[in-house]
Amino acid sequence: MLRSLARRSAQSHNRQTRLREGLRLRAGWIAATAALALLAACDGGTNGTRASASVASGASNAAVKDTAAQAQKQMPPAQGASAMKVAATVPAVGPAQGPQTRAQVYAQVERMTALGKQMFFDPSLSGSGKLACASCHSPDHAFTPANALDVQIGGTDMHRQGMRAVPTLKYLQSVPAYSDHYHDSDDEGDESIDAGPTGGLTWDGRVDRGRDQARIPLLSTFEMASTPAKVTAAVRAAPYAEAFRAAFGEHVFDNEAATFEAVLQSLETYEEQPDTFYPYTSKYDAYLSGKATLTAAEMRGLKLFNDENKGNCASCHISQRGKDGTVPQFTDFGLIAIGVPRNQALAVNRDKRFHDLGACGPERTDHRSAEFCGLFRTPTLRNVALKKAFFHNGIYHSLDEVLRFYARRDTNPGEFYPVVKGKVQKFDDLPRQYWANLNTDAPFDRKPGDKPVFDDAEIKDVIAFLDTLTDGWQPPAQSHAQAH
Ligand code: HEC
Ligand code: HEC
Repeated sequence: MLRSLARRSAQSHNRQTRLREGLRLRAGWIAATAALALLAACDGGTNGTRASASVASGASNAAVKDTAAQAQKQMPPAQGASAMKVAATVPAVGPAQGPQTRAQVYAQVERMTALGKQMFFDPSLSGSGKLACASCHSPDHAFTPANALDVQIGGTDMHRQGMRAVPTLKYLQSVPAYSDHYHDSDDEGDESIDAGPTGGLTWDGRVDRGRDQARIPLLSTFEMASTPAKVTAAVRAAPYAEAFRAAFGEHVFDNEAATFEAVLQSLETYEEQPDTFYPYTSKYDAYLSGKATLTAAEMRGLKLFNDENKGNCASCHISQRGKDGTVPQFTDFGLIAIGVPRNQALAVNRDKRFHDLGACGPERTDHRSAEFCGLFRTPTLRNVALKKAFFHNGIYHSLDEVLRFYARRDTNPGEFYPVVKGKVQKFDDLPRQYWANLNTDAPFDRKPGDKPVFDDAEIKDVIAFLDTLTDGWQPPAQSHAQAH
């Protein structure tokens, strides 16, 4: 309750500065963590701090623009400490003895990126031998599935259905580490505002690092259904086995735990590759830097998206640059309950007592208290037009359906929730005792009889705007210039 009040009172300006800070934090944190881990791997984990500073100061291919020195300054002690702990626990899998030069560290990052990429597309890591990371995270669809299933199928026999829609893997570099109470520590922001649960990877924010996340699908019985032993055997037999030895040591395969850890780290490193995962090449990015103009429909859509009395979308899906020029991520990373309808098509939902309650479980196990029930992390809307299943349970399959939900959930609830004996079963996937967690900001402040937030033409305009968030935009060919 307190949290939702705080959220409500937070000005969108504060939310934006807050987000910018989060971006820097997380980004710096990744760079520093990666550097620490690498150096630890290389020199036995004896002096992570010194190593990270020296690596970061010359970061030409750094995951972020900020130097890690600045990142360290901004890193709260807890995160600094956890990064150190990572360094200390990383197995010494590097081939070299003694400290490495910056050039050597970059060479190692390159080796890990190349290996991570090969493993990302390798189905032999899975228990079935049929499922790669890329099967669910297709690069042609912003690393979401090529098919339009609500949720994907996996397991050793490829007959197990998952319970959540697949999120994009793009722009994850900006997700801050999970926190129950997220405070703006930026100079311009108001630190007294508690923005509530924010950040972390997956829909419920239950892990912070790419390597910890990668462990989940590899071991999940309904996804890749593998084991560290199987993964080790697969990598040892893979075409890239030699490259793996060159990166992690001649004897790395003797130790399954070390091999598995190196696989997870390589996947994480690949996922931080800027050109692939956060290129910022959408039309909207070009528009923000003055290199493109939006059409009339796109511009109307943007206004509706930002308008606090209409979509109010930008209050959660940040659309404007920060004061210091930071590019918007189209999410504030907040975990929020918006009452997405129950997806009756999911096998888990055949059990009436089952509810995917996001931050309070059952997938997440460290947060059983009621105030976290029904909360899911606000996803980025970058590349959202390439997705084929929307919301955490994949219930909708077009942006039109999603937009209708936002516009009409409260004015016409019967269009979205089951109607039993003439009575709408609103919020049918969230037990009533958790309804206090539901967000009540616009556009969720209407009631039956009110005018829906958007009419059909406005929905079209907002979708036209969302289409400008797809990467890979090219300026229209200068046909005149080329003709000569
Ligand atoms: C069977 C489909 C499937 C496969 C295979 C799969 N994933 Fe995922 N991935 C998902 C789903 C579903 C989620 C959301 C999980 C959740 O919220 O609990 C997800 C979430 C993620 C996330 C977090 C995204 C975010 O927004 O926080 C990352 C990173 C990720 N996957 C990477 C990988 C990697 C690396 C692999 C291979 C080792 C992989 N995935 C294999 C379905 C899959
Ligand atoms: C109060 C915060 C909030 C506001 C306001 C908000 N959203 Fe969202 N949005 C979320 C959350 C949280 C989710 C994920 C919910 C879930 O799956 O349970 C989401 C999901 C989405 C998705 C699905 C993305 C995907 O990958 O599945 C789209 C599209 C979207 N929002 C667009 C909009 C638009 C357009 C508006 C304005 C009309 C808007 N949102 C307003 C928080 C918000």
